[in-house]
Amino acid sequence: MRIAVVGTGYVGLVSGTCLAETGVTVTCVDVNNVKIELLNHGGMPIYEPGLAELVTRNREDGRLFFTTSLREALKDADAVFIAVGTPPDEDGSADLHYVLDVAREIGEIINDYIVVVTKSTVPVGTNYKVKGVIQAALEKRGVEVAFDVASNPEFLKEGDAVNDFISPDRVVIGVESDRARRVMERLYHAFILNNTPIYFMDILSAEMTKYAANSMLATRISFMNDIANLCEIVGADVEAVKKGIGSDSRIGKKFLNAGCGYGGSCFPKDVKALIRTGDDHGHSLELLKAVERVNENQKSVLFRKITSHFGPNLTGKRFAMWGLSFKPGTDDLREAPSLVLIDKLVGAGAVVRGFDPVAMEECKRRIGDRIEYADNMYDALTDADALIVVTEWAEFKIPKFTFIEKALKHKIIFDGRNIYSPEQMKEFGYMYYGIGRKDN
Ligand code: UDX
Repeated sequence: MRIAVVGTGYVGLVSGTCLAETGVTVTCVDVNNVKIELLNHGGMPIYEPGLAELVTRNREDGRLFFTTSLREALKDADAVFIAVGTPPDEDGSADLHYVLDVAREIGEIINDYIVVVTKSTVPVGTNYKVKGVIQAALEKRGVEVAFDVASNPEFLKEGDAVNDFISPDRVVIGVESDRARRVMERLYHAFILNNTPIYFMDILSAEMTKYAANSMLATRISFMNDIANLCEIVGADVEAVKKGIGSDSRIGKKFLNAGCGYGGSCFPKDVKALIRTGDDHGHSLELLKAVERVNENQKSVLFRKITSHFGPNLTGKRFAMWGLSFKPGTDDLREAPSLVLIDKLVGAGAVVRGFDPVAMEECKRRIGDRIEYADNMYDALTDADALIVVTEWAEFKIPKFTFIEKALKHKIIFDGRNIYSPEQMKEFGYMYYGIGRKDN
């Protein structure tokens, strides 16, 4: 089994590498020469735990290749995965420009049957557009080559992507012919042997599944954030409520953490895109519109707490910020709540000294000297008026409180991820502000 994977971004690189690990021969293609050079010399363009080792092993074993030539990658391939980016347009819809360009190029090259699998998250109906573009390119060449399109959405979480790919809860595949189904069954043979549920369905349903999954998860988070804000008003504790409802097996324990908002490359983009699809079809997704509004509002929740403590003018105030990435385990800052908070704090006159275990370079690249960068988590605290926790990295969960106490000007913690216990903070003499809990 031999495949090509177009796009060595997050999804393409993880999917290609992990499929190579299951025994498939994979050639990853990217137009970015620098990235391909880097990968061919043992470097990694992204931070993802465990991925570098897998790339090295599969390259050395001769199952994983990197090239800038699509033609070379398509040679003898049974399937080609399109895993290029679909950045949001200004109006929130996904920009399909890269996906359709790749489709056209595939149509310009292929001479034998191939399954063209869309792995990028694309709006419902895109696979038919891909099919149309390939068909048009073949007609332009005046040749007839059989091919099928398929949709195989990915459900990878950053920071856990290798594990998510190798041991998924399920694999969703949308196909429209038995021939394509057989190719996909061969490709996922190792997963079938492993008893991973593989759900074959029609293409439109597979495309919709990805958006519905991410939108459902985003809905849970916004729901909990809304409940958290009400908990604060009535004097309840959202952490207790979370336990109380999560133990109902119909609800389940996961993805019920209130915090300072969801970010990342998927939830914000996918929620927007599904809203857009609904609007385009004359069906307004009111619930999702509220999910988005609640999240935008939640990204300011820490700022509101800070200004209600210190007053609106923060000139002369210094804040230690622990965590910059949108979640632990990644250096990704896309749509990160930290960026919204930094803007607001700096706008109000404050100085922010940030620390993140892996996202420091990425943060410097994005916002430069808008904040100070600390050498370590305790260095961030020097002379700060308060500590703000924005991302729940493991090392922040059990800090040396004696170090915090020595460095901070005031014993004040704004905890945007509820990683500390209010009772313990009270015992240690801190003024503690969590999310959806009684302040002390
Ligand atoms: C998500 C989906 O989980 C994944 O299936 C899909 O393929 C891509 O989008 P990812 O963006 O990597 O993955 O991160 P995830 O772990 O889902 O977290 C997304 C955001 O939600 C983060 O900002 C996180 O802090 C926030 N979150 C998550 C909460 O605020 N509360 C929770 O209970 C869970």
